[in-house]
Amino acid sequence: MMESDINWNSIYEILTGPALWFTFIFFVGGLLIRLAFLFRLSRKKDRVIYNHFSLAWGLRSIFQWMIPWASASMRQQPVFSIVAFIFHLSLLAVPLFLSAHIVLWEEAFGVRLWSMPDGLSDGLTLIFIAAALFLIARRRIRPEVRILTSAWDYALLGITMLPFITGFLAYHQWGPYEVLLILHILFSQILLILIPTTKLGHMVLFFLTRAFIGFEMGGRRGARSW
Ligand code: HEM
Ligand code: HEM
Repeated sequence: MMESDINWNSIYEILTGPALWFTFIFFVGGLLIRLAFLFRLSRKKDRVIYNHFSLAWGLRSIFQWMIPWASASMRQQPVFSIVAFIFHLSLLAVPLFLSAHIVLWEEAFGVRLWSMPDGLSDGLTLIFIAAALFLIARRRIRPEVRILTSAWDYALLGITMLPFITGFLAYHQWGPYEVLLILHILFSQILLILIPTTKLGHMVLFFLTRAFIGFEMGGRRGARSW
């Protein structure tokens, strides 16, 4: 097929219509199913943890890990911790509050979120890309991290960067706009589908492990790490 025969409009309609709904349902449903399975497994294999469950210790532990350098292990790696913090802050803030996305949120769910000035989202996009490159370099350079790193770890970091790279190029219209926008949406949907199915599930699982370590080490053993 000649390039001019490709109907970008109908690809765009599918990607922002049925494919987008599929992605959202898979993303939310997948995370819920994963949580339900893990909950069942823990009731079966690790019932004892519920004996000393403490919401207060769990929340304290989560809170300490939300603030840069608030925990001892973050202070041991101050540069990595702050870069990882900035990586996650821009990763969550840009897709949620980008002005171009706000319109899509409103169309799909009828909610009007705060819209970030374009200069800020553009800057955060570049900061995100730089932070991700730092995390990739760290995995290559630090021997103790390198030995634990598989090709899939790099791939996931790369896949997380793709929506940012293509979104940035589309926004600046550097390159063929229609193609970049379609790639942007496609890569974003792939990323959202990978969240419940890979270690990116830590987006919700982080809170469970953190809370558990909080009430186990802090509450039960009196050995909190902050
Ligand atoms: C899946 C549905 C998504 C749709 C339909 C969508 C749509 C768009 C549109 C229309 C633009 C603006 C392009 C322009 O200005 O012409 C954009 C930009 C952008 N999007 Fe998305 N997007 C989606 C998901 C995501 C996700 C999941 C991320 C990040 C994880 C993301 C990050 C960005 C970034 C970083 C920009 C460019 C910001 C800038 O440099 O100013 N998008 N997106
Ligand atoms: C509120 C949600 C999230 C929390 C609390 C969280 C927390 C964490 C933590 C504690 C780590 C390990 C250390 C670090 O690199 O900071 C990590 C790593 C990572 N996170 Fe998240 N995360 C969240 C959401 C996400 C999402 C939505 C994605 C991608 C779509 C993501 C992608 C990554 C990646 C790629 C790494 C590995 C970095 C590396 O390889 O060095 N995170 N996250």
